Amino acid sequence: MDVSEDLIGGLNEALAYEYQAIIMYTTYASTVSGIHRGELKEFFLSEVEDEQNHARYVADKVDALGGTPTTEPKPVQVPSEPRKMLEIVRESEAEAIERYSRLMDTAEKEGQRGLSGDLHEFISDETRHMEETEKFLRGTW
Ligand SMILES: [Fe+2]
Ligand SMILES: [Fe+2]
Repeated sequence: MDVSEDLIGGLNEALAYEYQAIIMYTTYASTVSGIHRGELKEFFLSEVEDEQNHARYVADKVDALGGTPTTEPKPVQVPSEPRKMLEIVRESEAEAIERYSRLMDTAEKEGQRGLSGDLHEFISDETRHMEETEKFLRGTW
């Protein structure tokens, strides 16, 4: 079955958001301040590797399906408040889960079962990122 422009376009959009996530976590690790700086910096840096793996996979997949991988990240908001950073992260991860869920459905419909299975793992990763972020937000600070 031919791969649709929808699927390639959706993967390229996901790629732009993965690049955004890499920049977001790297920048937040550098700029986060306050008494929780140490643990938040470590947390943000720990997310970078997963997002890099996602980006590399998605870029390879876009190319394999006949598309051209984007090189443009989505823009990144850089607040100064640590709590605001965590809220943006939580929202970004929730959106990533929805994005990959939609892409998984499209991949299934188009008979791309391998892709669908791999995206299932990405949904697990993004869910873990979101839940870890929620635990930080549950603090009283
Ligand atoms: Fe990701
Ligand atoms: Fe993530």
